Amino acid sequence: MHVLICGGAGYVGSHMAKWMASRGFTVSVLDNLSTGHRAAVQWSDLLEVNLLDKHALDQVFSAGPIDAVMHFCARSLVGESVVEPYQYYENNVVGTLNLLQAMRKHGVDRLVFSSTAAVYGHPEMDHIDEEHRKAPINPYGMSKLMVEHMLADAAAAYGLRSVSLRYFNAAGASEDAEIGEAHEPETHLIPNVLKSVLGQGAALKIFGDDYPTPDGTCVRDYVHVDDLAQAHELALRYMDTHEGAHAFNLGSGEGYSVREVMSVAERVTGRSVPYEVAPRRAGDPAVLVASSSRARRELGWQPKYNELGAIIESAWRWHVNRKF
Ligand code: UFG
Repeated sequence: MHVLICGGAGYVGSHMAKWMASRGFTVSVLDNLSTGHRAAVQWSDLLEVNLLDKHALDQVFSAGPIDAVMHFCARSLVGESVVEPYQYYENNVVGTLNLLQAMRKHGVDRLVFSSTAAVYGHPEMDHIDEEHRKAPINPYGMSKLMVEHMLADAAAAYGLRSVSLRYFNAAGASEDAEIGEAHEPETHLIPNVLKSVLGQGAALKIFGDDYPTPDGTCVRDYVHVDDLAQAHELALRYMDTHEGAHAFNLGSGEGYSVREVMSVAERVTGRSVPYEVAPRRAGDPAVLVASSSRARRELGWQPKYNELGAIIESAWRWHVNRKF
């Protein structure tokens, strides 16, 4: 089975490509390298294509045959999306529409879509399930929700089968430390904690310690990137027997505060985390924790990393010897 991984040079996409290649799938990576890394593409060819280039996209599918698409291409910085919303709607919505149209033209009818917890907005329950109100509070979340709506319409009109996977906080790196998280600039907590430990750049900034949580810092649900990959493979298989457009949360169901993440990182690395307390970051809800029982029940998802220490250990191995 030949799977096209759009955004396969990025963080989650590159782990996906590695995962699928190791399971015997034929993989091609499409990426415009705007935020991805050539060095992260090690298990397939790299098609350097922008989803906004319809002609190039058509050529990719003409060269086919492609059986299914996994789609990770996106701008994904919440703060940036508020300042540059058109970039988010163009890349994430128009780019995906172009991809869907190319798929339709070439008879490719299966898509696994990388969605986000940001489609929910402010949480109204302790463990957010898929029925929670969808009220994104920034253009990034809105762009992903708009795509989910397009997928529902495409299922009804054209019979497209799709699964949207709404990640909570993707974290960790591949066990062999061949690939890992490498954003520029880095905005995510765990890499910033580890960079602070390594003395790379300034001390970690804790964005707010006056939230209504046990220690005053924000609580998030961290899920290992290879557990995300496992869920995508299961989603692909799910579409063999399920028509329509489906959505599943992917998270561990366990919340950890920023200070708890720091203390686990101190245990794993054996070093202290230099930090300072800074003002709250705009748009951060106090607590975001998933209910992923639907993914466990319907996809048969069984995350392997059930402990934050193991997630941070894998990230640490990557960060001490980063290859890109
Ligand atoms: N944080 C810090 N210091 C840092 C980085 C983060 O204190 O240097 C805090 C944040 O304020 C937040 C928590 O650590 O409370 C986690 O922040 P991340 O940036 O790692 O992750 P987010 O929860 O903000 O983002 C995740 C996904 C996004 C998604 C968002 C939905 O990465 O794609 O959840 O709210 F949009």
